[in-house]
Amino acid sequence: MAELGHTVICADIDEKKIEMLKRNEMPIYELGLEELVRKNVKEGRLSFTTDIAMAIQKSDAVFNAVGTPENKQTGQAEMKYVYAVAESFGKNLNGYKVLVNKSTVPVGTADKVAEIVRATSDGKNEFDIVSNPEFLREGAAIKDFLNPDRVAVGVSSDRARALMEKIYRPLARSGRPVLFTDVRSAEIIKYASNAFLATKISFINEIANFCEVAGGNVKEVAKGMGYDSRIGSRFLSAGIGYGGSCFPKDVKALIQTGKQYGQDFRILQAVDEVNDDQKLRPVTFLQKQFPSLEGKKIAVWGLSFKPRTDDIREAPALLIIKALVKMGANIVAFDPVAMDNTKQELEGVKIKYVTSSHEALKGADALIIMTEWDEFRTAEYATIKDLMKGNVIIDGRNILDRKEAEEAGFVYYGIGA
Ligand code: UDX
Repeated sequence: MAELGHTVICADIDEKKIEMLKRNEMPIYELGLEELVRKNVKEGRLSFTTDIAMAIQKSDAVFNAVGTPENKQTGQAEMKYVYAVAESFGKNLNGYKVLVNKSTVPVGTADKVAEIVRATSDGKNEFDIVSNPEFLREGAAIKDFLNPDRVAVGVSSDRARALMEKIYRPLARSGRPVLFTDVRSAEIIKYASNAFLATKISFINEIANFCEVAGGNVKEVAKGMGYDSRIGSRFLSAGIGYGGSCFPKDVKALIQTGKQYGQDFRILQAVDEVNDDQKLRPVTFLQKQFPSLEGKKIAVWGLSFKPRTDDIREAPALLIIKALVKMGANIVAFDPVAMDNTKQELEGVKIKYVTSSHEALKGADALIIMTEWDEFRTAEYATIKDLMKGNVIIDGRNILDRKEAEEAGFVYYGIGA
């Protein structure tokens, strides 16, 4: 937003995070983020504070971007942080403002948020609630924000629409579609988009599993499908399932919201189940290769749920590692950026972390590639062979070539490839 020319005050109750940002230390990893923040702070458009009241009072639009993590008991999105922001907004409403929901929230949230604002404000000032979901991919958020496929904005008044048009004018001027809808449609667009992409992934994963039993190579199949412009080639990479902070939780949350409205999302139920099973395919394969995994040394390449991020939330790697450790395997793991997060998350789980992909291979009986980091794509088979004791490669992201791997003497398992 600052890069678009707006004055942005980032407010959070997390003092540690704000202090870090003030020191120009990024709380998440993304290439180019630090430079972008530094530049906009220097040019006076971007600041960080824990003074929530000041941040709200000084602003025309307040973007609510707090987390809505999955409530593990109900499968629903946890809304308490969103409601807390609504309360702060109400208490500090000192003129007309809009509260923009950026967080991924179930349909109908804008109405609930409006009630909270009405109840907590003094009633002297008008306000609008806007739904403006984000479609940013982790690791590519800057690019996705500045060059979006579309911006969806749900509004319920002309006044709110005019303000949001002004905010997104720089993107509209550069030819990006800024779509105005009613509030509920915008709320649904977000879930429908993520659920559709997750469906695409589970679909191609089932086709991959079918290729394994019926013959064929899912990479060729996906290519052949993708040329059809109605299908499109993106999000057709088969593998060990989707992870991250969005797809798993959003699919589950939409299923739950559906239930509240008496709607049974049968497709999404299957998407979720297919994804759960998909993550365990490397384990099933290893069990076939080794009668017992007790004492087997397994090298793991990649821990994050996808490359170019240190995020390990719902990463298939974690589940697979935990299953293998339980079976007595010795795990030696390497990831370019996600090892610290994994150490924290899997505290107490016996994993050896090493500082290079080669080191992980030393004496390993098998290698599992969990994340498609670029440096794994260019691995030399001869070097892998020299370092490993065994010859099993499980390519969970289909980044190597079966023929080449087999010619180099490996037992290769790709996901339908
Ligand atoms: C996703 C959406 O893309 C984004 O629009 C939304 O705002 C947030 O959720 P993100 O979670 O950052 O973004 O990751 P994404 O790149 O979409 O990948 C999600 C998961 O799907 C990863 O685990 C990835 O490995 C997997 N994936 C993706 C596949 O298995 N196959 C594919 O073809 C694409």
